[in-house]
Amino acid sequence: MKTIFSGIQPSGSVTLGNYIGAMKQFIELQEDNNCYFCIVDQHSVTVPQDRLELRNNIRRLAALYLAIGIDPNKSTLFIQSEVPAHAQAGWMLQCVAYIGELERMTQYKDKSNGKEAVSAGLLTYPPLMAADILLYNTEVVPVGEDQKQHIELTRDLAERFNKKFNDIFTIPEPRIPKEGARIMSLVDPTKKMSKSDPNTKSFITLLDDPKQIEKKIKSAVTDSEGIVEYNRENKPGISNLLTIYSVLSNEPIQEIVSRYDGKGYGEFKADLAEVLISTLKPIQEKFNYYINSDELDTILDQGAAKANLVASKTLKKMENGMGLGRKRK
Ligand code: TYM
Repeated sequence: MKTIFSGIQPSGSVTLGNYIGAMKQFIELQEDNNCYFCIVDQHSVTVPQDRLELRNNIRRLAALYLAIGIDPNKSTLFIQSEVPAHAQAGWMLQCVAYIGELERMTQYKDKSNGKEAVSAGLLTYPPLMAADILLYNTEVVPVGEDQKQHIELTRDLAERFNKKFNDIFTIPEPRIPKEGARIMSLVDPTKKMSKSDPNTKSFITLLDDPKQIEKKIKSAVTDSEGIVEYNRENKPGISNLLTIYSVLSNEPIQEIVSRYDGKGYGEFKADLAEVLISTLKPIQEKFNYYINSDELDTILDQGAAKANLVASKTLKKMENGMGLGRKRK
């Protein structure tokens, strides 16, 4: 039994990339581990957000966590801003982090590139993420490939804090899936599928209806060869679709490839759309139930209470280590 922590930002819709890279792992892990899953709303405000939309997205993400199968009896589900220790510990870890190492984060470089006004929060985002993870004595962090660098920084910050102050943090390990760690855009398969992509054709959300899914898969960029074959370098489009098919159907890529031998992309894409529609249907049904239920609020209240208990204990140890506040008997 290990302690697991992961988070998802409530900015925009949850995509198939989030599901395959991260959320699918959560379901497997909750069976025999101590899991914390977080709606990291404070991370979302590092870039401008519409307040009403953000509120909606927080609730929708909570309902989606439950809809994909997070069981509140097994896992702790909560909203980051409802556990104040995250921001407090994030501050302390900011004071341990160096500006240079934060500037080297590729997510920071991508999100700040070409922007006139970049918030300081966008730069200091990784120490907040480190706080999320370290407050729970987390051993394993299930994430997609794009978060690997942030977990490495988390490990560095934890080791630095342990050495400088008191030895309190567990050093966490990333858990990145073998297949589907980086689901690519349907419009440009050399780019990551991202919920903040302005072109909605580039991603599938967990709430897309069958018509939207069929359309998006049909128009997904492939190549002109017409041969269903896995080759990430030379055929990134069809390889991405094969990965999605394989992960969702639990069928090895090679078996799918041989089944479509001599058939064109049209038939493959139509079948992939079917796989997606049938995967998402039960998720959407559960989502529709949770989004309007009071049960959702009870689960989030209980989750925040439990997370607060654990996080505030670690926070106290951090404050003691740094010498903040007064010594209490
Ligand atoms: P976020 O909200 O961008 O994404 C949530 C999770 O989805 C994974 N992911 C993908 N996996 C495969 N293919 C893709 N195209 C794809 N796009 C996203 C991400 O790797 C992530 O696991 N900083 C984090 C949120 C965070 C967090 C944490 C995660 C805050 N605190 C503590 C783990 C632990 C983020 O922006 O994820």
